[in-house]
Amino acid sequence: MHANRIYNFNPGPAALPLEVLEEAQASFLNYNGCGMSVTEISHRSQDFEDILNDAVVRTKRLLNLDDRFQVLFLQGGASLQFAMIPMNFLADGNSADYVDTGTWSAKAIQEVRIQGRTIRVVASSEDQNYTYIPRNINFNPDAVYAHITSNNTIKGTQWFEFPDTGGVPLIADMSSDIMSRPFDTTRFGLIYAGAQKNIGPAGVCLVIIRQDMLARIPPNLPSMLSYTTYASRNSLYNTPPCFTIYMLQLVLKWLEETMGGLDKMEALNRKKAQLLYDLLDASPFYRGTAAPDSRSRMNVTFRLPSEALEARFVQEALQNGLAGLKGHRSVGGCRASLYNATSLAAVEALTDFMVRFETQQG
Ligand SMILES: Cc1ncc(COP(=O)(O)O)c(C=O)c1O
Repeated sequence: MHANRIYNFNPGPAALPLEVLEEAQASFLNYNGCGMSVTEISHRSQDFEDILNDAVVRTKRLLNLDDRFQVLFLQGGASLQFAMIPMNFLADGNSADYVDTGTWSAKAIQEVRIQGRTIRVVASSEDQNYTYIPRNINFNPDAVYAHITSNNTIKGTQWFEFPDTGGVPLIADMSSDIMSRPFDTTRFGLIYAGAQKNIGPAGVCLVIIRQDMLARIPPNLPSMLSYTTYASRNSLYNTPPCFTIYMLQLVLKWLEETMGGLDKMEALNRKKAQLLYDLLDASPFYRGTAAPDSRSRMNVTFRLPSEALEARFVQEALQNGLAGLKGHRSVGGCRASLYNATSLAAVEALTDFMVRFETQQG
């Protein structure tokens, strides 16, 4: 590990690969020999267009996307997508299906309701405090799309098999597990992900949209709220968040060239999560909160015997060079986010600390 850097388990903004930070640092004052920083050049310059196009190509290659998909970069975070999706695809008289698996799904649902559009919540895990992913869902064949949250950052649950919607395009909020594993993209009409967990700093939202979805968009939307604007101008209708897109491109390059792609990334992510879940399962002191068949490999949520011990745990962990272990303020407890850039060594350091902490209390 680099001197002065500690292990980072933040839920987002989150750890970035050290190689990426170093590369950005090395080229910060003079990008690609142009004599200016990447933060100082025009978004219409060749240097920036090359960055953006490389990020698009790498996204397609990493996710094995076919030619029907377009890769876009938007601002407004994943939260703006909650509102844009119904604006672009859900006309009056139509209905969409939503699966409610926690806070972020609920926010997506709320944004549709604000617009007075019709949705059906076809499944929810609210009955058990969102600790599991619903199965055997009956989607409506006449729905114009079906929306899911692939990984629930706060409750620590994750979809491992995407649902069969019988031809209804699937739309997924993949903010907290995009690029953590390969998956069959062909069922998806749209995928979106705020960058700040697995693929870059905050400030950009990756949107992957299928051609047939673009064809559905009404012409009378405000320009910045229509996917057509971004798709027809290669995300360069207005000034994009250039530096964030540059960082995202470096992360994708790291994923391909250093990590060796998503199969390898998934294998490592499995190993990291297993190490921590094995400890939780074996311990009478720590208690995992998600149902075992639904528990996330990205966000591992757990409790200690009391809130006082949880507070001490988070504080002592930080003193031991392990940051970001406090659970979301809405649920309390502890959470270790194990995104792509969090190394196996970091998880080993965490489990070593957890064993020591438990012994001390015993
Ligand atoms: C699954 C999920 N969706 C959406 C969001 C909101 O993203 P943003 O802050 O980019 O709007 C988050 C943020 O943590 C998230 O974890």
